[in-house]
Amino acid sequence: MKITIVGTGYVGLITGTCFANAGNNVTCLDIDPKKVETLNKGEAPFFEPGLSEMMTKSINAGRLDFSDDSSTAFTGSDIIFICVGTPTGNDGKCDLSYVLGVADDISKVLDTFDTPPVVVVKSTVPVGTTHRVAERLHGEYFIANNPEFLREGNAIDDFRTPDRVVCGVESEEAQAALEQLYAPFTGDGHPLLFFDIHSSEMVKYASNAMLACKISFINEIASLCERNGANIERVRTGMCADSRIGNQFFKPGIGYGGSCFPKDTLAVMEMGDNANAPCLVNTAVHELNQRQRRWFANRILEHFDNDLTGKKVALWGLAFKPNTDDVRDAPSIDIAKTLIDAGAEVTGFDPEAWETYGSEVPEVTIVSNMYEAAADADALVICTEWDEFSSPDFDLLKAKLKDQVIFDGRNLYIRAEMARHGFHYYSVGRPTLEICTA
Ligand SMILES: NC(=O)c1ccc[n+]([C@@H]2O[C@H](COP(=O)([O-])OP(=O)(O)OC[C@H]3O[C@@H](n4cnc5c(N)ncnc54)[C@H](O)[C@@H]3O)[C@@H](O)[C@H]2O)c1
Repeated sequence: MKITIVGTGYVGLITGTCFANAGNNVTCLDIDPKKVETLNKGEAPFFEPGLSEMMTKSINAGRLDFSDDSSTAFTGSDIIFICVGTPTGNDGKCDLSYVLGVADDISKVLDTFDTPPVVVVKSTVPVGTTHRVAERLHGEYFIANNPEFLREGNAIDDFRTPDRVVCGVESEEAQAALEQLYAPFTGDGHPLLFFDIHSSEMVKYASNAMLACKISFINEIASLCERNGANIERVRTGMCADSRIGNQFFKPGIGYGGSCFPKDTLAVMEMGDNANAPCLVNTAVHELNQRQRRWFANRILEHFDNDLTGKKVALWGLAFKPNTDDVRDAPSIDIAKTLIDAGAEVTGFDPEAWETYGSEVPEVTIVSNMYEAAADADALVICTEWDEFSSPDFDLLKAKLKDQVIFDGRNLYIRAEMARHGFHYYSVGRPTLEICTA
């Protein structure tokens, strides 16, 4: 099939590359000419394991190319995927201007098609948006919605072996085209589900809202544990043994970040307000997530009597989660800003997010080695659970740090071991022990 993908962010680029790899001819359109130039060389503009290799293979096979020309990129396409961003606008509402702008671009060329294309909204959009896209298309087409569930850092596997593919359709033509396209990725254990368009749009928001809810819920219980002398890790183990609860997305920490959960939770709240049906759970989930970041930053401030003048803090983990260089709405940003405002000098390390972080918090000095970041620091703060941080050389770390204080926002270490090494160790939802015997 001939496919046009609009937007080469995480979703567009992974989608385009995986469809090309499956034998389709794919053109990816983006308004950023510099990005397009880089992409045509086979270079991914962000870190995603295995992506560049897969892009290069499909480019060399003549099945994948990139363009910034909307007058030609749609030529002869059977299916067009809209994969542009739907960020939270300055007014706190979901900004649909990119999605609707693409609809106008498609509309301009609709009369050049011999066969009406299927126009698919893949961006995460509030219920009703796919129909708003359709209203702007003047000509012949078949409309569909197909939300994406990939996780950054595991995106290629998620796309190729999905838990499910959800499509919203209202024509046999759109359903047949999507069935054909997704056939290599669906089947036994990987269902391809067809719903009405509104339900398909809602599945995406409801799924992200549920996952965000699990994270805020366990963080709320962690907070209760700390105040009542319980240990959240044991409580969690006990809870997760119940198969109805499960153990995914249920780890205490400093909350969720990234380009999806924060904005999608806000968008659900907006949908509720618009429908005069306020979403109380989602509102609490969002507020708890904000509170968790503030609580962690305040814990560091309190340790230093609210004055970090002349103090040096090492920050391990800048990306919003491991295996990505994405720092959008990363907890590390709020934490670093709070520490800097209190007078600290902050040195950061991340295995991948060294370039992306610089523009977010330029005051943070980025170094290329985790122990270098810790050199002469009055405290180490851990914001992201990269594998590299899970079993460091504690003797070396101790020797590097000026003061052996660790604030672990991801509960990476065993408290008894930290006590044995002589660290003053703070974690989330577990009693702080300087001397621990169990
Ligand atoms: N990032 C994720 O992990 C993820 C996962 C599932 C769903 N989503 C959803 O998918 C959508 C895209 O997310 P993303 O993270 O890939 O976005 P992104 O911001 O990383 O990328 C969007 C791209 O679209 C391009 N663009 C904007 N307007 C354009 C236009 N008129 N024509 C062509 N290109 C244009 C931008 O230059 C940019 O490269 C969002 O709705 C998001 O919520 C994201």
